[in-house]
Amino acid sequence: MNISFAPLQGYTDAAYRRFHNQVYGDCIDFYYTPFIHLHNGEPRHRDIRDIEPGNNQGINIVPQIICRDANEFHTLVNAVIATSHTHIDINMGCPFPPQSRKGRGSGLLVHPDTVSEIATAIDQYPQLTFSIKMRLGLDNPQQAIDLLPIFNQARLTHITMHPRIGTQQYKGTVDMQSFARFMAKCEKPVIYNGDITTPEQIDIIAEQYPNLHGIMIGRGLLARPSLALEYKQGITLGQEEQIERMLELHSLLYEHYSTVLQGDAQLLTKVKTFWDHLESLIGHKPHKAIKKATSIAKYNAAVQAI
Ligand SMILES: Cc1cc2nc3c(=O)[nH]c(=O)nc-3n(C[C@H](O)[C@H](O)[C@H](O)COP(=O)(O)O)c2cc1C
Repeated sequence: MNISFAPLQGYTDAAYRRFHNQVYGDCIDFYYTPFIHLHNGEPRHRDIRDIEPGNNQGINIVPQIICRDANEFHTLVNAVIATSHTHIDINMGCPFPPQSRKGRGSGLLVHPDTVSEIATAIDQYPQLTFSIKMRLGLDNPQQAIDLLPIFNQARLTHITMHPRIGTQQYKGTVDMQSFARFMAKCEKPVIYNGDITTPEQIDIIAEQYPNLHGIMIGRGLLARPSLALEYKQGITLGQEEQIERMLELHSLLYEHYSTVLQGDAQLLTKVKTFWDHLESLIGHKPHKAIKKATSIAKYNAAVQAI
């Protein structure tokens, strides 16, 4: 089973992806990049730098864009083409109101005409391939199923489905019944994404849906960075070994950020985010000490104490 690392804005930047691959071997088939969006009509330089091949050596990345219409789509696609990538993922799942209210991400799923315009715009780039990452709908799980006549006709290599609706954000459970209905009618290869935290869960999904094209994991990999390695190698790492490897990843990231960021305050803010999903691995007390650290010295002492 193919394993993709989900795009996670604020977490899986180029450095995280590169060092994750360095520490955990080649266990991730594709690292999707956090979405590139337009800011005052242009993509941000740092987002473009993040997908440049030179910053992603040795790993397969899938650059992702988020757009509200075909005009934004063309601008973003051309920006990605300039970096020489030949595959682009289109975000139709983002649930965050600043995006969805403006008709981007899951907000697109209630505008079939715009989805159709974007699907047609794809045909203007025969040199590229495209995929979509989406949710079941903005506010109703029927919405994705209703869009399938468009997606089934479109030139898409695959669709990644996170079976929640946008208004749900990350609350409640994934809707596996609607996922199965979507799968049954979708003529494109489907990747499953959502709430996977253990190698056993990957096995269960793979068994339940033998036609799946792959599995994408986000927060589960931030919480247990060895998850895909354990699945691919058929092993289970003990807590100590998991912590040891995770600290190796942390050291590489810390060293990197301390050379590229200006000053201790910026460094402290950035490195603290690394721990956002790691409380269950390291325990409540060490986690709290790291999150509460007010200086780099206190931070380093808290990490040493794990
Ligand atoms: C902090 C955060 C940032 C995210 N950024 C993106 C993004 O840039 N593009 C995207 O398609 N999905 C994004 N997602 C959604 C994840 O890729 C994924 O679909 C979601 O977390 C469900 O998968 P999981 O349960 O394995 O984490 C983000 C999710 C979180 C929590």
